[in-house]
Amino acid sequence: MRIALIGGTGNIGEGLAFRLRLAGHDVLIGSRSGEKAKAKAEHFNALVERLGGKRGIEGMTNEKASLIADVCIITIPWKHAFETAENLKENLAGKIVVSPVIPMVVENGIFKYIQPEEGSAGLKFARILDKSRVVVAFNNIPAKRFANPDEVFSWDVAVCSDDEQAKRTVMDIVNSIEGLRAYDAGSLENSRIVESITPLLINIARKNKTRELGIRFV
Ligand SMILES: NC(=O)c1ccc[n+]([C@@H]2O[C@H](COP(=O)([O-])OP(=O)(O)OC[C@H]3O[C@@H](n4cnc5c(N)ncnc54)[C@H](OP(=O)(O)O)[C@@H]3O)[C@@H](O)[C@H]2O)c1
Repeated sequence: MRIALIGGTGNIGEGLAFRLRLAGHDVLIGSRSGEKAKAKAEHFNALVERLGGKRGIEGMTNEKASLIADVCIITIPWKHAFETAENLKENLAGKIVVSPVIPMVVENGIFKYIQPEEGSAGLKFARILDKSRVVVAFNNIPAKRFANPDEVFSWDVAVCSDDEQAKRTVMDIVNSIEGLRAYDAGSLENSRIVESITPLLINIARKNKTRELGIRFV
């Protein structure tokens, strides 16, 4: 499957890029700059080879990646992610679009979930991308640890969507990554709960001086 990371040059993009490639997917790194995306893709391919996998990560503009991918994961900070989705709306029509996006701010050292008017980032994407199949996933993954190839983890991923088939496809993608386990978390309506867990994880890690935290349902 060809999976695009729209804004895949950043923190969460890094772990997703090489781990999705190691799982056998073709990965497209999107960026506002084609040159930046190509340089990142080269870096990720070298890492994949070092880890015993085969090259297969390509860098390009977000426009091109969204046009040719089967599934697009929007890995852009929330303040810019919705505008990017608007701009790519036609390219994303009919496609599975995955949101790991967490709308949040930090106030007096405390991370707070900023609930969009629609109810969640996932629901906001569904309103903007009304011709796409929106799925919420990967929201509670700690990006730095995920990007560390030496990190051994066992994290759960809550997956929400109103499109059952799209949700199943994304759950299969999640389960293809070693160390991740997908759970069906219901409709997009539930994404507000899933998204709001991330600031809680960050606050707990900071207060208790632990490293970044993921989640596990036991
Ligand atoms: N970091 C985490 O631990 C974590 C965990 C779970 C979920 N998430 C979510 O994943 C998303 C990405 O987080 P991140 O930490 O990976 O973000 P990031 O590293 O800060 O940024 C990712 C990419 O977004 C693009 N970008 C920045 N400003 C933009 C703009 N104005 N317009 C379009 N693209 C822009 C940049 O790509 P180019 O410059 O190449 O275009 C950048 O490399 C966020 O929504 C976040 O809530 C993050």
